[in-house]
Amino acid sequence: MPAAFVTPLSMDPPLIGVAVHPSRHSHDMIKFSEEFALSVPTRALLHHVQYLGSVSGIDLAKLELTRLPTFRGRRIDAPLLEGCIGWIECGVHDAYTIGDHTLFVGKVIAAQAEGDAFDETWLLHDAEEAPLQYLGLNFYAVPAARLEARIPQPADVKRDVEAGEAQVGDATEAEQRREATEREREDRQRG
Ligand SMILES: Cc1cc2nc3c(=O)[nH]c(=O)nc-3n(C[C@H](O)[C@H](O)[C@H](O)COP(=O)(O)O)c2cc1C
Repeated sequence: MPAAFVTPLSMDPPLIGVAVHPSRHSHDMIKFSEEFALSVPTRALLHHVQYLGSVSGIDLAKLELTRLPTFRGRRIDAPLLEGCIGWIECGVHDAYTIGDHTLFVGKVIAAQAEGDAFDETWLLHDAEEAPLQYLGLNFYAVPAARLEARIPQPADVKRDVEAGEAQVGDATEAEQRREATEREREDRQRG
């Protein structure tokens, strides 16, 4: 089943949380097998994701119906979806009831990603190889660009503390702000 309630929880050991409602067939499968796999889709799988998240495996063999090709994981039996750009295999480490969902905490036992799509972070070179994000209802998005933020250096932080103001904006933004303030002052002076 598609899952949007997914979050990293720990680096060492590597743990991932997925919140699954007890009514889902996947809930029973995870409880029974004590393992699960996450496959990260792209926009090519947009309609398949919505389909798999709209019908339950309790009633029909939905994955087989979609005829999506799968392959065996490295460490677990759950099928991984071809056409995705990342795959994470987990053994269930813990399970907690959180409100009306069960938070399955998975210990990552294998992880793979497409080299064109991921190298330490998602690369976003190509919209076709960006991870599909769920917005809610039947709406999705793909992130458009990877933005690199400036990492504050100890000397910058020291300067900011001394100045009592953090200079975090980039040069262009700072310049635009200065120009806008200047224009406002001139406007005020003109009346
Ligand atoms: C994009 C998307 C994300 C979803 N995320 C979750 C989720 O995180 N947890 C959950 O319990 N259900 C989630 N759902 C709903 C299940 O995927 C849906 O109920 C599905 O049909 C359950 O299938 P199953 O009964 O075969 O497990 C989501 C549905 C969609 C379309």
